[in-house]
Amino acid sequence: MPEQKWGTNTGFVLAAVGSAVGMGNIWRFPYITGENGGGAFLIPYFTVTILFGLIFMSLEFAVGRYYNKSIIGSLASLGSHFRWAGAFTVIVITVIAGYYFVILGWVGSFFVSTVSHDTMTFDGLTSSYYPILSFGVVLGLVAAIAAGGVSCSIERLNKYGVLALIAILVPLAIYAVSLPDSDKGIAYYLTPDYTKISDPAIWSTAFGQVFFSLSLGMGVMVAYGSYIKNKISLAKASSVIIMTNASVSVIAGFMIFSFVFSYGADPASGTNLAFVVLPQAFSEMAFGSVVGSAFFALLFIAGLTSAVSLLEVPIGALSEQFGISRRKAVLASSGIVLLVGIVASLGYSPVSLSIGDTPTLDWLDQYIGSYGVVIAAGMFAVIVMWRMDKGTLLEQLGMHGKIAMPERILYVCKYVLPVVIMLSLVFSFVS
Ligand code: PFF
Repeated sequence: MPEQKWGTNTGFVLAAVGSAVGMGNIWRFPYITGENGGGAFLIPYFTVTILFGLIFMSLEFAVGRYYNKSIIGSLASLGSHFRWAGAFTVIVITVIAGYYFVILGWVGSFFVSTVSHDTMTFDGLTSSYYPILSFGVVLGLVAAIAAGGVSCSIERLNKYGVLALIAILVPLAIYAVSLPDSDKGIAYYLTPDYTKISDPAIWSTAFGQVFFSLSLGMGVMVAYGSYIKNKISLAKASSVIIMTNASVSVIAGFMIFSFVFSYGADPASGTNLAFVVLPQAFSEMAFGSVVGSAFFALLFIAGLTSAVSLLEVPIGALSEQFGISRRKAVLASSGIVLLVGIVASLGYSPVSLSIGDTPTLDWLDQYIGSYGVVIAAGMFAVIVMWRMDKGTLLEQLGMHGKIAMPERILYVCKYVLPVVIMLSLVFSFVS
């Protein structure tokens, strides 16, 4: 089996940026900020990003680069019984991939309908079986990219994808803030409500948002770290990735709320924001079909580069654990994602498949996505920090950088991080 490696360091950094920057930045971050204290939310957001995001990302890269294995193999190297923790993570990420691909399919459908000047509504879309078709197309596309290999296909997709993303986002955001009444949107987005800062639930929300947005705790960055071939400072690479990710999120917030308020619409959250309120705003806007197409293209490209990284985890794990070829692992992983995606997709279809009153997609997001990610991230931090040799870890973290990592940083991971992860879990349960 040919070993998968990145061709260049830039390719590696761009792929990690591509994984991090996704629908979580462009669609989720803005409404989470608007709902949770506006500008004041940026305080927990940036604190968590810098304090935990940076270290956790460097840690995942370090583990991947050192063991040169998937999350299962890496954790098993620290104790064979930790294999199950890796397997748990792979199961969680495969479920997330299932519904992430479904939502990406919706985005693709809105892109096609906007380009073709068709006024499709979300209800219209989900009262048909098109979402299953669009999910299948997205899955096929991601699987084809994955089958092309890491350096040929994934690296190239991200090189162009990340550039295209910035080339679309920046002009779109400038256009949005120049619209009449965009100031009301920006006020909604950023007016700080400092009373919220003392609410632990806000910190838990910030924690969840940062980890999801940076693709942390899921073994993605372990996989991407294991493909590093050249010398590179992990701390420097992680800093570039987290800053790019945060910048895209903040700019996306300006764009989204300027669009929403310029057209007198109410800011909504979740599916309503991206698939009801915004399409409505685009349909009333001058050049709306151009702006709408650009918006959905942006969301699709961002989501596609993240989707590829999601599928990479089961692919890497299956080929490693069962010694099968990459192509077979792509097929097997896609098969499992197909089953999960169909179940998720049926939640928003004429049969409205649900668990209790909750559509299957939302249920999977709530229980497997949100809680699963926190549990997986917690297990990773605890196992790595308590089992991996401290010297090796510090060496990996400081390697090829000008500044040696201070040992104190490891205490943050060893003692503070697991406690924060536990608290985050408790608060999200309570709320
Ligand atoms: N970071 C991606 C986003 O913000 O949309 C989503 C994601 C990708 C989450 C990969 C987790 C992951 F492992």
